[in-house]
Amino acid sequence: MFVLSARPIRQTMAPSSGGTTMPALEKLIKISKDRSYDVYERFLWPERVSEDALWCDENLLTTYGTPLHDRLDERQRIALSKWEAINFFSLNVHGIKDAIAFVCNRFYDRRYEKYSEYLHFFLSEENAHMWFFAKFCLDYGGKIYRTLSVKTDDASSALVSDLYMFSSTLIFEEFVGFYNQKVGNNDSVPEIIREINRQHYIDESRHVQFGREVIKDIYEEIRRTDPNWEGRHAEIEKTIKRIFLHFIGLMYSPSAYADAETHKSLGFSSAPELRNVLRNAPERSAYHALWFKKTAKYFENLGAVSSSDFL
Ligand SMILES: [Fe+2]
Ligand SMILES: [Fe+2]
Repeated sequence: MFVLSARPIRQTMAPSSGGTTMPALEKLIKISKDRSYDVYERFLWPERVSEDALWCDENLLTTYGTPLHDRLDERQRIALSKWEAINFFSLNVHGIKDAIAFVCNRFYDRRYEKYSEYLHFFLSEENAHMWFFAKFCLDYGGKIYRTLSVKTDDASSALVSDLYMFSSTLIFEEFVGFYNQKVGNNDSVPEIIREINRQHYIDESRHVQFGREVIKDIYEEIRRTDPNWEGRHAEIEKTIKRIFLHFIGLMYSPSAYADAETHKSLGFSSAPELRNVLRNAPERSAYHALWFKKTAKYFENLGAVSSSDFL
């Protein structure tokens, strides 16, 4: 999902240097240890997932709030919820793959020395998440959807490129967290779905804390050291906003509409046509804001974007 650009070779930590760990990170490491679990034993995987109930909260469906939603009957809404859940979990698989690749490239770079210890926990947790999201998609949907990458390979320096990668990861994690928290507390969705969402939400709260910390650290360094800060800031603001809009767009999946046959139920000639209508429906803006506002506000408070009203 994230595109990495070529970077200069970095200086790595000398074998004897060890890592300085901030108290906040030490706390995160302790919580990660205390809450660790065997992912391969964590869930009871049913033979099949019931299609008698929605697979997410109704107000998480991408038709919700529009007049089209009212034209779907219960069975059609359940079909949509199933394939949108497969889409959502597929997005996680791709996002995690890229986050893992990125983190592996940064282990023991001098720049991230103080984070190295925590990054091992991050990596191990994301590996577990990728396993359960992929298993769910394959066992109950028979596939993992493909996805489009966000273009961040035009970064003007290696550090700006890192800022984009950590920002993409954070924006995605908070986006996922909103969904996970709601579905993880919904007693009417099938148990395996509730449990996956619940577990992921618990683990991700630590990643979000870490992401906010490291982004602030990188952003401040760029601001302090860049001789062309004004131009750099404009570039950063534009890219951060583009990342948000990219993720909003990914919620609307033509593949999910096609598998659920939602476009046929609503009289559209193709799934991409329905996708464009829903993506641009004015009623949907309020839901985009609901999902992404908190994170946009974080970037506004940081100074990376001038206002969080662009969603
Ligand atoms: Fe995750
Ligand atoms: Fe994460």
